[in-house]
Amino acid sequence: MDREKIMEQNKRYWNEHADFWFGTTALPEYGVNFVTEDELHFFQDVAGKKVLEICCGSGHSLKYLGDRRAAELWGLDISHTQLDHAEEYLRQNGYHAKLLCASMEESTDIPTDYFDYVYSIYGIGWTTDLQGTFRKIASYLKRNGIFIFSWHHTLNYCVSWSCEERHIVEDDKLIFTRSYFDESYFKMPVHDSEIILCNRKISTYINALADAGFVIERMVEQNDKETMENLEDGSTKARKGRMCPISMCFKARKR
Ligand SMILES: C[S@@+](CC[C@H](N)C(=O)[O-])C[C@H]1O[C@@H](n2cnc3c(N)ncnc32)[C@H](O)[C@@H]1O
Repeated sequence: MDREKIMEQNKRYWNEHADFWFGTTALPEYGVNFVTEDELHFFQDVAGKKVLEICCGSGHSLKYLGDRRAAELWGLDISHTQLDHAEEYLRQNGYHAKLLCASMEESTDIPTDYFDYVYSIYGIGWTTDLQGTFRKIASYLKRNGIFIFSWHHTLNYCVSWSCEERHIVEDDKLIFTRSYFDESYFKMPVHDSEIILCNRKISTYINALADAGFVIERMVEQNDKETMENLEDGSTKARKGRMCPISMCFKARKR
């Protein structure tokens, strides 16, 4: 599938549906039913630090870091509607962020060797050029700067992306509905529209980080306590959640 067309389709989705996602998937949360920043402490002390969020959405994670006295807040997103929301939300909370409307694949007006932290909460998987995006992110960071990102766990898509619709748990065995090795793009209906994504292997992320000059400090793939321990919930979704990671989160350092 053509890269430009994928980006165009996904951008259209986000411009038309930003309202549905206001404030979701934002720090301290890294993902649905996933351990949070309150437990992980990946950011440590951000006071006085320069931070850049890739795919900043409605700006809630930027506010979270503003509340922790980050010195400079920067956000990049492909959707002007998301950025309008972010600007308004941050303004209402007394913050000003430098917001850039661009794709992470093509972003240009971002200083290099500048940021202490670059991060992305459920954003990176939208890229149509993982290696190029990681290289750009590395260039924005100072030496030893930290890159943190979360995304859907690869296995979660292999066991189906919609456990409501399919019979995917049988006798407490999960059924693969997609090959782990298949990284091709697929269309997914959402609301009254469609998005286009691909499901990358864990090794694809790890090798792309290494090739971009990162050292991985941590990878987390832990569903939260409630998901793991609420044995009374016998729904397909809950049973899947007890057996299969839903999200993953990486913390890496620029060499
Ligand atoms: C799940 S949302 C992120 C939400 C964000 N963490 C928050 O706090 O609101 C994903 C975001 O990625 C953006 N996006 C999708 N494709 C992109 C691309 N190629 N480049 C930059 N942003 C993109 C969307 O516009 C959307 O705002």
